[in-house]
Amino acid sequence: MVVPGIAPDRIPTHVACVMDGNGRWATARGLSRTEGHAAGEHALLDAIEGALELGISYFSVYAFSTENWRRPVEEVRFLMNFNIAILDRNRDYLHSRGVRIRFAGRHDWRVPKRLERTMDRAVELTKANRTMTLTICFNYGGRAEIVDAVKALIASGISPEKINERAISRHLYYPDMPDPDLVIRTSGEYRISNFLLWEIAYSEFIFTEVLWPDFRRENLYEAIREFQHRERRFGGVDQ
Ligand code: IPE
Ligand code: IPE
Ligand code: MG
Repeated sequence: MVVPGIAPDRIPTHVACVMDGNGRWATARGLSRTEGHAAGEHALLDAIEGALELGISYFSVYAFSTENWRRPVEEVRFLMNFNIAILDRNRDYLHSRGVRIRFAGRHDWRVPKRLERTMDRAVELTKANRTMTLTICFNYGGRAEIVDAVKALIASGISPEKINERAISRHLYYPDMPDPDLVIRTSGEYRISNFLLWEIAYSEFIFTEVLWPDFRRENLYEAIREFQHRERRFGGVDQ
């Protein structure tokens, strides 16, 4: 689909989103924080739709960090059940749109078995789809991913002199996933909060004040327009 002001030949391959600001969105309305998370579902679905329209191949979202266990137990419990419900509600639709669903993050005894089963089901159902890969980063930490890659490397029996950046990249959770071209963070926080640390070495960043529940595909378009005005040098010089 052609969107005004967006060059169809320079669509980023991989866009990653830190979906932040649900709690503040709810508090500002006199609602509970969990109602803010619930309101984020529509934002997520609309952003996915926008990504599909633009032909983005990889769309990644930060849904729960390895640090989010520090939140009150009620909120954590809500988020676990909410993720089951989101997958149950949207799995078939996403499948029909050609979305391959994957999860990046650590297995953890604190993640309910029912959620793990629901995740597995979504992965299994959509594994042959290639229109877009949606990577849901759940119980994900960038440092944890690097630690896990190092563990896997050592377990492979590699000799130290053979360890290079490519070897580490090959042991990340999804070695086939290209590095994000663009990272968007909502809610006016200017930090990365342990998201995709290895992969964002040369990503472009867009920080917006919009709170996640208010995010819509138009906000994604706006971010892509700005991205298309950025000049990426990867350490080189313009020729
Ligand atoms: C992001 O919104 C959702 C998760 C971290 C799960 P927050 O819950 O962090 O919302 P704020 O930042 O407190 O407003
Ligand atoms: C990052 O948001 C994690 C997710 C969006 C899932 P947080 O709200 O947890 O990050 P901090 O605590 O503000 O850095
Ligand atoms: Mg937050």
